[in-house]
Amino acid sequence: MKIQVKSPGRVNLIGEHTDYNGGYVLPCALNLSLTLLFEKKTNDSHVFTDLGSSMSFDIKKKIKKSHNHWENYILGVVSELKKIKTDLLNFSCHIESTLPSGAGISSSSALVCGLIKGLSILNEIKLTNSQIIDLSRTIEHKYIGVKGGIMDQFTILNAKKNMAILLNCSNLNAKYINLKLEDYKILLLNTNVKHNLANSEYNQRVEECKSALKIIEKKCDHKFSNLSDVKFEDLEISKSHLSNKQYRRVSYVLKENQRTIESAKLIKSNKLKELGRLMYKSHDGLKNDYEVSCAELDYLVDYSMNYEEILGSRMMGGGFGGCTINIIKENFITDYINIIKDEYFSKFATKLNHIIAYPDSGIEVK
Ligand code: GLA
Repeated sequence: MKIQVKSPGRVNLIGEHTDYNGGYVLPCALNLSLTLLFEKKTNDSHVFTDLGSSMSFDIKKKIKKSHNHWENYILGVVSELKKIKTDLLNFSCHIESTLPSGAGISSSSALVCGLIKGLSILNEIKLTNSQIIDLSRTIEHKYIGVKGGIMDQFTILNAKKNMAILLNCSNLNAKYINLKLEDYKILLLNTNVKHNLANSEYNQRVEECKSALKIIEKKCDHKFSNLSDVKFEDLEISKSHLSNKQYRRVSYVLKENQRTIESAKLIKSNKLKELGRLMYKSHDGLKNDYEVSCAELDYLVDYSMNYEEILGSRMMGGGFGGCTINIIKENFITDYINIIKDEYFSKFATKLNHIIAYPDSGIEVK
């Protein structure tokens, strides 16, 4: 038996760093993906990619963490699945990819979700999408060390073609929104940088939000279900007890939630210009209040403001590198790419890559 799993990347229109705060996000799956081809094996397990990485291990033996970062995604999945079913079968998995890694478009969650899906089918383990989301999150926390939220996994598992998902991350209530952009397209510009501090700063933001929430709860004498449950009035009441940094973090999260809900309404009523303005505001908050942007991302967002053909632009994903997401007039894409690639190269001596993103369906099994 051969099992093929197509696991896509994700883009997020707006609602950044809100998922682990129980807030709103507005993602869709990307038309770029990993394709994983699984087969049962009798001896060792073998995982290999079309880019030349490969690893072997015996699934029947104790699984230990590797020094090779990439291998820990696979070993993490295998270890956690072994807790559900002890006698997992050895397997081979060939991974082909059209999804660049390190670009903030969720290639790691695509890998983890794809592996869980394929291996659970191969071993006849029945898992619901929410169990896969929980498992995947545990693996990324324990084996990779990033305390991420659930936006990426939820999108990869549940996305629908040409739809964005307005997801309430506190209860996983999802509303699908038809993403008609008419003569506009989603353009991703990949800075090709990922600054070293990305993971540690990400985890630090998670902690800063947790500690701010504790202070607000104490001051308001009320237990909130998460940071997104806090109202602006509660934040103001607590202001003198929070550091300036904590205040800005919380204020960003509350405003970003509002922008995300508003953006979903604007898409429904075809008000793309207004959506673009909210994207710029989101970037401004991510840069100045949440402080997760970087020079390369800021440069691209600022540059796009020179052109009315670009309605909005902002950094996307965890930050400190990766991509900007832009809503751009289709007939301006080629010209703009030529201009911005040259400008970016002369400024940073780094190549800029682009992706025209089409909202696609979630994970598929053949
Ligand atoms: C990364 C994480 C997500 C989310 C974004 C920021 O992509 O994996 O869970 O927190 O950053 O919005």
